[in-house]
Amino acid sequence: MRLVSAPTVASALSLALLSSAQTITGQYDCLPAGDFTLCQNLWGELSGVGNQSSTLISTTGNAVSWSTTWNWANNPNNVKSYANVLSNTAKGVQLSNIASAPTSWSWTYETQSDGIRADVSYDIWFGKAPSGVAATSASSYEIMIWLSGQGGIQPVGSVTKSNITVAGFQWDLWSGPNANWEVFSFKTASGDITDFDVDLQEFFTYLTENEGVASSQYVQAIQTGTEPFTGNAVLMTSSYSVAINSL
Ligand SMILES: *[C@@H]1O[C@H](CO)[C@@H](O)[C@H](O)[C@H]1NC(C)=O
Ligand SMILES: *[C@@H]1O[C@H](CO)[C@@H](O)[C@H](O)[C@H]1NC(C)=O
Repeated sequence: MRLVSAPTVASALSLALLSSAQTITGQYDCLPAGDFTLCQNLWGELSGVGNQSSTLISTTGNAVSWSTTWNWANNPNNVKSYANVLSNTAKGVQLSNIASAPTSWSWTYETQSDGIRADVSYDIWFGKAPSGVAATSASSYEIMIWLSGQGGIQPVGSVTKSNITVAGFQWDLWSGPNANWEVFSFKTASGDITDFDVDLQEFFTYLTENEGVASSQYVQAIQTGTEPFTGNAVLMTSSYSVAINSL
C-alpha cells in the first residue's frame, strides 16, 4: 500500500508546486518575484491583435526563472509589450561608485513561429538622481543590451559603431533620442546569446569612456525581458540574476 500511495503523494506534491507557479495576463499586471518584480507591461498592445501571459516559475536566492508566452499580429514595426523582471535590489548606485555589476541570463525559445519579430533584452535606466522609475522624466539614458533581435527589427536611432567588443561579445551600437532621454542599444552582432554571464560594468565603462555619459549618473532601474512585435513564441528564462556591488 505504501509503495502504491507514495507516487500518489509525490504527484500531488508536484501538482501543488506547479499550481503555485503564478501566471499574469492583464495589461499592467505585476507579480512579486523574490528580488524582482515580474510585469506584463503591454504598453503597445493597442497597436496589435493578440495576447500574452507571463509565468513566475521559481525564485532562488538572487535568481529568478520565468516564462512569457506571446502571440501578436498586425503593425510589424510596433512593439506590443516589454514583459520583464525589474530588479528591486540592483539600483540606486552612481556609476563612479560601482565596483562590479555581475549578471547571468540563460534563456531559450521553447517554441517560436516562423519569422518572429522580437528582441530579448536588458533595459537599463540611468538618471541624475539615485531613484527614478524607468521611462519617466527622471530618465537621462536608456541602455539596451539585445541578446537577440530576430526578424529584422531595429533599436532606436542608427548604428554609430559596428562590431565593437564589450564583455567578450561583439555588438553594433545604436544610438538616438527618445522622449527626454538618450538611447544606447548594444545589439548582438553574432546571433543569439542564450548564455550570458558578464559584468555589466563593462558596458557602463564603455559608455562613460566613449559616449560622453557622465559617471555621476545613477543606475535607476535594471529590467530584463522581451519586446515582441509579431509572431508567437514561448520565451523561457531558466535562470536570471543581477547585482550591483559598490566600491
Ligand atoms: C491567443 O491568441 C491566439 C491566436 O489568436 C489564440 O489561438 C489563443 O487562443 C489566444 N489565447 C488566449 C489565452 O486568449
Ligand atoms: C567582428 O569582430 C570580431 C572580433 O574582433 C572579428 O573576429 C570578426 O571578424 C568581426 N566581424 C566583422 C563582420 O567584421
